[in-house]
Amino acid sequence: MSENDNKKVKLRSAEWFGSNDKNGFMYRSWMKNQGIPDHEFQGKPIIGICNTWSELTPCNAHFRKLAEHVKRGILEAGGFPVEFPVFSNGESNLRPTAMLTRNLASMDVEESIRGNPMDAVVLLVGCDKTTPALLMGAASVDLPTIVVTGGPMLNGKLNGKNIGSGTAVWQLHEQVKGGEISMHEFLAAEAGHSRSAGTCNTMGTASTMACMAESLGTSLPHNAAIPAVDARRYVLAHMSGIRIVEMVREDLKLSKILTKENFENAIRVNAAIGGSTNAVIHLKAIAGRIGVDLELEDWTRVGRGMPTIVDLLPSGRFLMEEFYYAGGLPAVIRRMGDGNLLPNPNALTVNGKTIWENCQDAPIYDDEVVRPLDKPLLKDGGICILRGNLAPRGAVLKPSAATPALMQHRGQAVVFEDFEHYKSRIMDPNLEVDANSVLVMKNCGPKGYPGMAEVGNMGLPPKLLAAGVKDMVRISDARMSGTAYGTVVLHVAPEAMAGGPLGIVQDGDWITLDCAGGELNLEITDEEMAARQAVRVTGSAPGPKTGYQQLYIEHVLQADEGCDFDFLVGNRGSAVPRHSH
Ligand code: FES
Repeated sequence: MSENDNKKVKLRSAEWFGSNDKNGFMYRSWMKNQGIPDHEFQGKPIIGICNTWSELTPCNAHFRKLAEHVKRGILEAGGFPVEFPVFSNGESNLRPTAMLTRNLASMDVEESIRGNPMDAVVLLVGCDKTTPALLMGAASVDLPTIVVTGGPMLNGKLNGKNIGSGTAVWQLHEQVKGGEISMHEFLAAEAGHSRSAGTCNTMGTASTMACMAESLGTSLPHNAAIPAVDARRYVLAHMSGIRIVEMVREDLKLSKILTKENFENAIRVNAAIGGSTNAVIHLKAIAGRIGVDLELEDWTRVGRGMPTIVDLLPSGRFLMEEFYYAGGLPAVIRRMGDGNLLPNPNALTVNGKTIWENCQDAPIYDDEVVRPLDKPLLKDGGICILRGNLAPRGAVLKPSAATPALMQHRGQAVVFEDFEHYKSRIMDPNLEVDANSVLVMKNCGPKGYPGMAEVGNMGLPPKLLAAGVKDMVRISDARMSGTAYGTVVLHVAPEAMAGGPLGIVQDGDWITLDCAGGELNLEITDEEMAARQAVRVTGSAPGPKTGYQQLYIEHVLQADEGCDFDFLVGNRGSAVPRHSH
């Protein structure tokens, strides 16, 4: 499309810059203090670049350079770029958990986009929560939108071998506790663990959400996997800049991309890649903003039976660098389509083509990394949705991270009232626990540990680690890092703090986990359940609360509803707010 096509579209930004009255004067005049000449305001699509750059979000610290390349593409295509910052919630530094501020960031994004003169927006995302936060905020406005991810780090290295972000931390920490390595060796691993710009290089939540953005059709093909330091990442940023200008001219809004069909594709892709359980929460929240009805049962209906074919840590062996060299996400989608396992091949993507048109000829360079469908890492990799009297509104388990023998399990509960209780009690050498026990932790859900911390993969009791036990069934209302592993039941809803039955589990209770049947049950009678519920004391999360934390506790929805705020669900549109001058 040519610049002449600009004349055919009614630009939203003209509501700011298109008049010669007092208001047009003011909007243009203040922008001109940046050295912007008149012709830049004349009928050009104004493209916002929503940047989560921050030196406190190390995974996104290279985003200024990324933004420069997006700008080059926008200028080449005849648009005018305007870069703006939004709250950057990095996973590694931000306490108590970056999830606490996902909704806050999404509000920042929504209001920044709607209230400013822009016709479309490029979302620069990377670290775990930045991807859903920006997609949620953008979905509530619904302009033409394209996602550019920062890309994963290069492979970590330790003693000449590859190590994976996050996953290595859990492994090395258990090795220290089990006496297998020294504290010196543990600390020496830090430098090689994170040795380049970019996000975690395992199939953790950041990589998962990058794959979700690509399979949802919101980014150009290959966006998910190109390493952060690979020049092709910057070519993709440039091409995304060109494409977003075309999307304005085509009026290709986000709601035309974020359809139920694309969510179904993403759910199936999550199974194929062995993706993070956090995707269940984030996809629900994004769907809620754009007005797509997505339920936990969709994960069973669409996801179950899909083999995990991407052999990446924490479920498998390789890292994101090898994933890109093997063909990246287009290779996975091609495998799925060739096997009739892509639910909606005709779903539209941001480049104007269907997902199958983008991927049907994608080369696959390495069968070890992107495995053939008949040689999967796991036969059924779909997120396991559990229900029962212990989780009336659902819970999740990631089969590819679990021990197959423990996915059908009956054991007695060892109960921790909250994370602090867990930390003190798990070290007790006299704790009555064996490998068959079920570790149960309460009060770590959205309200109980505001933000729903990633503490669900409780470390095992040191005495069992020393005895060589590698995995146990663990149950909580918490989340788990996408880089973690184990037979871990998460997101139990309703959470204990909201009155869920998890709160009445006692030491010694028998619990049955049946992943095949999708059930999680506490073996007590309904009468006993009612009697315990009648006398239970529910409180509120301990400790002083900030104003935002108080707002969070009062308005956060449960895990099965995506942990969005009740008042933020929905698409509020891109109508131009009125003038104030
Ligand atoms: Fe940012 Fe893992 S800590 S992606």
